[in-house]
Amino acid sequence: MSFSIVGTGSALPDRVVTNGELSSFLDTSDEWIRTRTGISERRVCTTETLDELASAAAEQALESAGARASELDLIVCSTTTSDHLLPAEACAVAERIGATCPAFDVSAGCAGFVFALDAAEGWFARDRARRVLVVSAEKMSRILDWSDRATCVLFGDGAAAAILEQGGDGPLSLRLSTRANTSDLNVPGIAGSSPFDRTEHPASLVEMRGRSVFRFGVMSVVSEVQAMSAEAGVGVSDIDHFVFHQANERILDAACERLGLEPGRVAHTLADTGNMSSACIPYALDRLARAGELCEGELVALVGFGAGLDVGSALLRWGSPRG
Ligand code: UT7
Repeated sequence: MSFSIVGTGSALPDRVVTNGELSSFLDTSDEWIRTRTGISERRVCTTETLDELASAAAEQALESAGARASELDLIVCSTTTSDHLLPAEACAVAERIGATCPAFDVSAGCAGFVFALDAAEGWFARDRARRVLVVSAEKMSRILDWSDRATCVLFGDGAAAAILEQGGDGPLSLRLSTRANTSDLNVPGIAGSSPFDRTEHPASLVEMRGRSVFRFGVMSVVSEVQAMSAEAGVGVSDIDHFVFHQANERILDAACERLGLEPGRVAHTLADTGNMSSACIPYALDRLARAGELCEGELVALVGFGAGLDVGSALLRWGSPRG
């Protein structure tokens, strides 16, 4: 049983942090950040909680789908930066929007939105759900080492959501994979206070081997687009929109060059938001949808990659079932 995305929404914190502001306390520059990453500014939470951002994105998605929270059969949230270790961020969203359906989180790094789509697809396939909210929400600012110029300049906070309805003829392809590796991108866990614990506890801050993840990102985007196209029996040139994880403009450029994609078909949202981990893909979808650039029946390819090292890709036909 298939599904379609019938509504999207997003929410960003108010505070804009420019590259110039970062260079006032880090040994970096606007020029380095823009030319090496494509990022000009990002949003960072000050008074906003992740619960608030995630719920605001969810409510906007419900509104754009013309649906009510009481009509949801499932909420899946992708996050690695929840306001709570317990309960799941999805439970906080359910409480805030007034939903009564099951709610749980998935943790799959920057590929989290596609992993959440896959979880939802299982519920549609088993006929357990007719309408699902997928919300991806990340407060990266809480896990960044703000003294490490190699990582903190890259990320931002934000949330984005999609309403999925059972039916339609998609996804044409939905692929998950893990090249198991915890050292290229890692946030060590919480120390706790067990008097029995004799293990090491580095700070719970992002550690990343940037160059290695960069290569993995380019390779993943290229191979996933080719694999989805072969699986679905459509040419890469038949795909109308490409929404890749927004980690670095140079990753997008290298992948597009290898795939022969014209720039106009590829989403670019990184400049104003930085890397919002799993929220990047649904955020880009929401921007495209609100700009009227996604038309009923068009093919949209998604590829997320990141910590894990997890990769999730999906080829969707935009729009369709309502009700
Ligand atoms: O969403 C999760 C996935 N994450 C990613 O996909 C990130 C992928 N990786 C990247 O985007 C890039 O590897 C980075 C943006 C992280 C780094 O770019 P790079 O071109 O790979 O730079 P590099 O790590 O090779 O560093 C080059 C130089 C180094 O200085 P030296 O050793 O050559 O003197 C760094 O210390 O750039 C220096 N550097 C900086 N300089 C100014 C690193 N960060 C900065 C900075 N400002 N913010």
